[in-house]
Amino acid sequence: MKTWKRILTAGVLLTTIVSLAGCNSTRGSSSSQKSNDKELVYISMPTEAEERWVKDGNELKNQIKDAGYDVDLTFAQDKVEQQNSDIENAINKGADIIVVASKDGSAVGPAVEKARDAGIKVIAYDRLILDTEAVDYYVTFQLEKTGVWEANYIIEKLGLDKGEKGPFNIELFTGSADDNNAKYFFKGAWELLQPYFEEGVLVSPSGKVTKDFTVDDWQDISIDSWKMEKAQSEMESRLAKYNGGSVSLDAVLSPYDGISKGVINAIEGQGMPWKVGSADWPYITGQDAMVTALSDILEGKQGETVWKDTRELATKVAEVCVEILDGKDVETTETMNNNVVDVPSILLDSKSVTKNGESDAKDTISVKDVVDSGYVTAKQVGLE
Ligand code: BGC
Repeated sequence: MKTWKRILTAGVLLTTIVSLAGCNSTRGSSSSQKSNDKELVYISMPTEAEERWVKDGNELKNQIKDAGYDVDLTFAQDKVEQQNSDIENAINKGADIIVVASKDGSAVGPAVEKARDAGIKVIAYDRLILDTEAVDYYVTFQLEKTGVWEANYIIEKLGLDKGEKGPFNIELFTGSADDNNAKYFFKGAWELLQPYFEEGVLVSPSGKVTKDFTVDDWQDISIDSWKMEKAQSEMESRLAKYNGGSVSLDAVLSPYDGISKGVINAIEGQGMPWKVGSADWPYITGQDAMVTALSDILEGKQGETVWKDTRELATKVAEVCVEILDGKDVETTETMNNNVVDVPSILLDSKSVTKNGESDAKDTISVKDVVDSGYVTAKQVGLE
């Protein structure tokens, strides 16, 4: 750690100890100090309960370790307070860089501000940190593109692009209301689907979305913390409008595989007469290429998932860390505004995955392609 940073860190540490003494906490003790003089990258992931963040965290940790730096990896169990305390811990340990995939993009602001005051660089990982100047870089995937993939899958499957007029029944979901990404995913999808609502070609029997719905209303159909169970109970209550299955369900816009699983569980659990593999079963989208989703795609339960190869994201973020630690310029491709500043950003490409890669859209690949890339094994997804 550089001398100027030691001084800043000591200052922040002192402030932290003083403030913690007031609230009778045991954190901030000197035992959490860094033990050697290697630079430390501290990774704060939002939760261990979702497959992707575990993959992301471990991949990034290994890559940074291989580059010769110390790494700490923590998971905040989807709790704002836990993530803030993890970041304080990073400051106390004298981290040089903190990589944060935030649970709540706004709530994490004060914690990263303390980190910046201590001279620590802050990288927003996958999710943008909002409403603060204290974010140096943002590395993620093309956000709206997720929604574009999902909407186009539905449009193609229902033949809307070929002039089919339906009307088709669809249910729409968005991700967690505290995740900035969720809005962008929906924006990409809604801009493509809204004109069909306008025409009456798409309708939502639950009444949750009408033609007058706007992107800014996205939190009205959000699923708190992206939780499968919450998606399941929300879908169960929406299914009440389907009269035991006599009203058809043609498609479900789901922004994440966990939500898709909740939707599938609801349809199966409520004994709807729609059979997997038949024309009655809805086209269901998703995101993350989770193992369960890839098997569900092979079985015909889920139609599509958007695959963001988290190994690429980890590699890019590891590169950024090394550039920072080597005092080199970090090359970014664009900026993303976080309500306060334009954050220098890098946005990677995603792909769409269907069972056999069937789609007119370029960059749609098959489940086998994901397996062949080594992201998951054939055994995990039931391909062997
Ligand atoms: C990520 C998605 C993920 C979701 C739920 C979002 O911020 O970008 O890839 O599906 O969180 O974890």
